[in-house]
Amino acid sequence: MLEVKNLKKKFSNNLVLKDINLSIQEGERIVIIGPSGCGKSTLLRCLNGLNEITSGEIIYKGKNISKKETNKEEIRKKIGMVFQQFNLFPHLTIMENIILAPVKHKLMTKDEAIKKGKELLEKINLLEKINSYPKELSGGEQQRVAIIRTLMMNPEVILFDEPTSALDPKMKQEVLELMKSLSDLNLTMIVVTHEMNFAYEFATRIIYMEDGIIVEEGTKEEIFNKPKSKNLKEFLKSVRE
Ligand SMILES: Nc1ncnc2c1ncn2[C@@H]1O[C@H](COP(=O)(O)OP(=O)(O)OP(=O)(O)O)[C@@H](O)[C@H]1O
Ligand SMILES: [Mg+2]
Repeated sequence: MLEVKNLKKKFSNNLVLKDINLSIQEGERIVIIGPSGCGKSTLLRCLNGLNEITSGEIIYKGKNISKKETNKEEIRKKIGMVFQQFNLFPHLTIMENIILAPVKHKLMTKDEAIKKGKELLEKINLLEKINSYPKELSGGEQQRVAIIRTLMMNPEVILFDEPTSALDPKMKQEVLELMKSLSDLNLTMIVVTHEMNFAYEFATRIIYMEDGIIVEEGTKEEIFNKPKSKNLKEFLKSVRE
């Protein structure tokens, strides 16, 4: 459903993504790992149009979505993103935060959005926070609300960029559990994370990136138990220490 072909991304003269080729099927749960600065966030940002690509193509359901003239808002309705820093609006309540985009984009009426928002908040046991402001919630709660906000748009793909790296261990677990529970929804998910245990339990495929290229990809058994490249072996050793 999502094809990346010969993707290159430069920031001025810095070639950050060198030649990325990737083919993702509907319902896959992909985890991207790799050292800091190798281009993981940049790749996710290219996929939902937050970064213009320098060359190559991104094809989504047969359509090239990486052209300059592509309506990026349309892409982001289908390909949602969850960030490390939650990015909830501080001056809006939890309910206002989660109904904002679907109502603005006319995906549903305000009443429908409130109904759906309540259902989703109830599922994550945060219904009582409906009228609270983001700063009144813990980091883990805010991140779970941010995931709900993305789900409100009924996306087909969700990109997660280190969703738990700003959280302490207990809150991390709550967020990771919520992400695992989304597996039932048959969403396609692409997650950048340093949580290797989570990657092992969650991923249908793991991609190892380094210095702007995909060095190795495979099942969790292939990547964690039988890594081929010396660099991946060293990377795994470093994150396990
Ligand atoms: N907007 C930007 N302008 C200029 N350079 C950028 C920009 N965004 C990213 N870069 C550069 O691109 C490279 C890759 O950054 P990126 O954030 O994609 O790495 P990453 O793999 O996500 O790293 P981390 O694990 O630390 O989050 C870095 O050298 C970074 O400085
Ligand atoms: Mg990053």
